[in-house]
Amino acid sequence: MSEQTIVEQAWEALEKSVIYYQGQPIGTIAASDPEVASLNYDQCFIRDFISSGLLYLIKGKPAIVRNFLEATLKLQPKTGQLDCSKPSRGLMPASFKIASLNGEEYLKADFGNHAIGRVAPADACLWWIILLRAYVISTQDFELVQRDDFQEGIRVSLELCLVTRFDMYPMVLVPDGASMIDRRMGLYGHPLDIQSLFYAALRASLELLVPNPANQTVIQAVCNRLPLLLRQLREDYWLDPDRLNVIYRYQVEEYGEEALNQFNIYSDSIPFYRLAKWIPEAGGYLAGNLGPSQLDCRFFSLGNLMAIIASLTTELQSHKILNLIELRWSDLISHMPMKLCYPALEDNDWRTVTGADPKNRPWSYHNGGSWPVLLWMLVAAAKKMNRGELAHHAIAIAERRLVQDQWPEYYDGPDGRLIGKESRKYQTWTITGYLLAKEIIANPDHLKLMTFDLDP
Ligand code: GLC
Repeated sequence: MSEQTIVEQAWEALEKSVIYYQGQPIGTIAASDPEVASLNYDQCFIRDFISSGLLYLIKGKPAIVRNFLEATLKLQPKTGQLDCSKPSRGLMPASFKIASLNGEEYLKADFGNHAIGRVAPADACLWWIILLRAYVISTQDFELVQRDDFQEGIRVSLELCLVTRFDMYPMVLVPDGASMIDRRMGLYGHPLDIQSLFYAALRASLELLVPNPANQTVIQAVCNRLPLLLRQLREDYWLDPDRLNVIYRYQVEEYGEEALNQFNIYSDSIPFYRLAKWIPEAGGYLAGNLGPSQLDCRFFSLGNLMAIIASLTTELQSHKILNLIELRWSDLISHMPMKLCYPALEDNDWRTVTGADPKNRPWSYHNGGSWPVLLWMLVAAAKKMNRGELAHHAIAIAERRLVQDQWPEYYDGPDGRLIGKESRKYQTWTITGYLLAKEIIANPDHLKLMTFDLDP
């Protein structure tokens, strides 16, 4: 099938996923698989819409993005309350759908209360800010972002992340399953995927917040937090052969400010021999999670790719991450770009860490499955760093399979060869992940919608 036919088919499928509210396009549903019960896949997920939104901005059709931003803003609670069954102030829903009452349409938000595991999404408000920035860059519609309700929306999201917390690290503390990986996967605490989005959202909000008295405190808080967050992530999450040597010989049980091993990581908890073999001399990456006596050395793609896109990593670190992807291609990409996390949790680890979750059994779904939506982030990261060949190669691999397999949500197996066991077909962000990757390659100028320059 020609490349052009694939793109045409993808667009056709995407158009079918658009949902309308009071006659206006407002979002895209997660999947439109005619063969399986939709469950909540007939809803518009905030995180899933990001690639749709970016694509519509690139195509000069910003109305759907504007409608989406306005509608979701209205769903966000603006007042604090002490009722645990209500969503917190500033939280954005995981998803919403159009319901009707007495013949009137209204939007029904799901803050995780209908999702498996009942976890509230920490990523939704961060993605929302990132998409709002892209909308403003693309349309130059400053009027929208300067409106009081938008300024308030940004402010309450930031306050939720910056103020309410039970620790004193610069990272944001979240429960397990609060991001794209919305089931238990050992991501309680300070998972990288959330920290990268947090960093990007903080950077974006500095561009979006009007410097007026109402915003003064929060702007100051963001400015204070950014350098600390940057340092902690670049230094303490970073893994490469040199860092491995340092961590291997860490002292433990150290007290006080001078402690090198700030998190009291015990050497025996880290698979040094495997890592020393796996990380190439020219490679490196940000670890998956960091907390008290915990350094999770799994490789998480979203966090690492977004770190490159947002310039959370230094130029050298960004190249090292891409070197790792290139040199460990068969582990991370193989037959489908790309693994959501590597390696999979197996045996007892799978049992204890995931709660023996059958959907997340080793090398399936979140636990070592391959997610085509990540293609756009891979291509954006590679193009940003002038590593176009890597991007082309990944797209060519995805192109061989996606149409013929009817745009599956994910693939299984260590080499990503099997269509995901419970994967839906016509998954919208699989389609948009591919289309967005193609647009970025065709015109790298679009990168300005998503990337950030090195340190502000
Ligand atoms: C799954 C994914 C989640 C996604 C949702 C809708 O729950 O884990 O990230 O938003 O499906 O596609």
